[in-house]
Amino acid sequence: MGLMLLSVLFAVMAYATYANDIHLLLDKMTLGEKIGQMVQIDISYFMIPNTAKVNYTLMESYIRQYPIGSMLNSPFSGGPVEGKTGWTASEWRELMKDIAQIVKDNTKLNIPVIYGIDSIHGATFVKGAALFPQAINIGATFNPSIALSVGEITSKDTRAAGIPWIFAPVLGLGLQPLWARFAETFGEDPYLAAQLGASVITGLQNSEKYFGNTTPKKTAACMKHFIAYSIPQDGHDRSPVQLPDRLLRELYLPSFQAAIDANVLTAMESYQEVGGVPMVSSKDYLTNLIRKEMNFTGFLVTDYAEIENLHNWHMVSSTQKEAVLLAMQDTTIDMSMVPLDSTFYEYLYQLVQEGNVNISRIDESVLRILEVKKELGLFDMELDPAEDNSLTQSVGEQADWDVSLLGAEESITLVKNNVVNGQAVLPFSKGTTTKVLLTGPTANSSASQTGGWSIHWQGIYYEYEENKKVTVLRGLQTALTEANVVYTPGPALDATSTTGIDFTAITALAQDVDVIVVCVGEGTYAEKPGDINDLALPQGQIDYISELATLTGKPIVTIMIAGRPRLFHTAVSVSSAVLLAYQPGPLGGQAITEILLGTVIPSGRLPFTYPQDEGNVMIPYHHKYSDQCVVSTGFHSTSYIQCIPEWTFGTGLSYTSFVYSNLQLSATTINENQDITISVDVENTGNYDAKHTVMMFVYDLYRRVTPEYKLLKRSVLYFFVLYQKTN
Ligand code: BGC
Ligand code: BGC
Repeated sequence: MGLMLLSVLFAVMAYATYANDIHLLLDKMTLGEKIGQMVQIDISYFMIPNTAKVNYTLMESYIRQYPIGSMLNSPFSGGPVEGKTGWTASEWRELMKDIAQIVKDNTKLNIPVIYGIDSIHGATFVKGAALFPQAINIGATFNPSIALSVGEITSKDTRAAGIPWIFAPVLGLGLQPLWARFAETFGEDPYLAAQLGASVITGLQNSEKYFGNTTPKKTAACMKHFIAYSIPQDGHDRSPVQLPDRLLRELYLPSFQAAIDANVLTAMESYQEVGGVPMVSSKDYLTNLIRKEMNFTGFLVTDYAEIENLHNWHMVSSTQKEAVLLAMQDTTIDMSMVPLDSTFYEYLYQLVQEGNVNISRIDESVLRILEVKKELGLFDMELDPAEDNSLTQSVGEQADWDVSLLGAEESITLVKNNVVNGQAVLPFSKGTTTKVLLTGPTANSSASQTGGWSIHWQGIYYEYEENKKVTVLRGLQTALTEANVVYTPGPALDATSTTGIDFTAITALAQDVDVIVVCVGEGTYAEKPGDINDLALPQGQIDYISELATLTGKPIVTIMIAGRPRLFHTAVSVSSAVLLAYQPGPLGGQAITEILLGTVIPSGRLPFTYPQDEGNVMIPYHHKYSDQCVVSTGFHSTSYIQCIPEWTFGTGLSYTSFVYSNLQLSATTINENQDITISVDVENTGNYDAKHTVMMFVYDLYRRVTPEYKLLKRSVLYFFVLYQKTN
């Protein structure tokens, strides 16, 4: 008896010691156990095909043979299975417990699996969790505290599902408007992306709000995609990138460095090649830059199937085995998102045995992975039922949805608001008695509002759960009553013309309305399936707006609901007011309605430069002085000017007005180590209390390396109440 008790105690102690000393654990590991840690497998590999059931027999025998360190994804990422759209937090926890049990029963060392998931704008794959506006909207809020809350709630809901690792945030800059992942960025500015990205990471990793003491951390963030994935030359997802070193350091690196400074625990590399070298085999970026220059000490995972892609897609290695060798030799990649077979494991095992990959290379990676597992408390994680319940019950709570609504309200950007008959078109002057003709392909689409990574990878393609969706149609009907809202769908999203639209009927419908609200834009997509060949809004949508304006003579309010800046062409000039909603989330229609009515004063600001024409794209506000366009000034006469976008970075109107005065500098010359204090008085001189972001740009007049036109250095969102003057 005494002896048995002793050995049980000893086992418990040994387990606890691993948590404190991962080197001790490493010493006990066989080569297979080490390589296993570096393997990440997609859960879909373990599913019984076309069912929502896990094949546990397969998982068990697989883990016995390959003691893998990680799994990812949701079986529902491709769409509903067996009529189910996703797992609840409790259902996820069952899976996590089952995996933990299988690891315990079938591996000698019982090293916990780290499960990773794409909780992109909220816990995408946890049923019932709040979904937030996409990152581009968070960019438009200019509000780090919203980014922080989004991170905290996303962490809470993901951890409620028992999942400790989140593949977010995206830290690439939104500079290439064609790119299908534009909406996943915070926009084109390095300062803004760094500030908001670090706030999301702090929310994800240090959410004391929900977890109290956050040692160990509850979820790990993953900065992605390292690096410069967001600027494909041809605009297509995963296409080659040119990356001059100076631009890398000035523009693309700061957001990632801010993430490292915020202690981000993991990183993901990216799909594209740079100057002929795939990122996944790049010594420059994945060894020298990320580790030596930027001092990233967390673990680095590949993107999906990227090592395989060295052979299949990048054409740099003639065999899969050579692909593994390349990635191991040239980079510091720690984990391969394999994701659907055991080839990475097998080849790496052979490469070490043959002496082509040194065991010290493997040990380094395994230690980095074990360190993160330790920081997340996975070694001593008991799935405590009490914690389960409180977290599970909080998934999708009202407070979370309030943040989603606030994010939509603060992001929607008013870019045009004409005065018609002596009165600004917005907000509606007749308030809730306004009569509206509502039309357009995104007017009643929660799929357009939520975009990709919503319930499923490509987004929802059916209507969202009733109680949490507010399309523009529903928002207006609720606020103005159904009697005051006439609705007709208008052209399809991809209409190339207005042929077939009954304008006689629509003109009749418009007869007694005060205003026409047209919602245009895009459907839902994610990653490469969202590639387009033309940045313009489909011609049918553009023509529809013009024809409505000409035929009805009513003021037109155009609302763009799209994940990237689809070109308006003639649609701006015929509209009396224009709102950019980006992808404002399930409650976007409510936020839009509030702004139309003036119950919310718009404060969103464009986080990127909105191009006007096909040729003049990728000219961000921080372009060079010599980026110039030509205008005709008469017969055979031209002049060169700064190119004119549709709207520049930072554009965003309000219903009130602000006056800036009394700019003061604490010094007029400083050296590079000195601080400077800059102040300005800002007064709300209009008629409404309102939020407003004050931005500070700097520029160099002359510089040996050509200066940016200007560059944002600080921005702060304030709430300005009206200031009553007493004389
Ligand atoms: C995407 C990543 C994502 C990964 C895992 C990839 O296709 O590029 O952003 O985290 O899949 O789902
Ligand atoms: C052109 C040259 C030309 C020169 C003199 C420049 O603007 O770029 O091609 O030879 O003018 O006319």
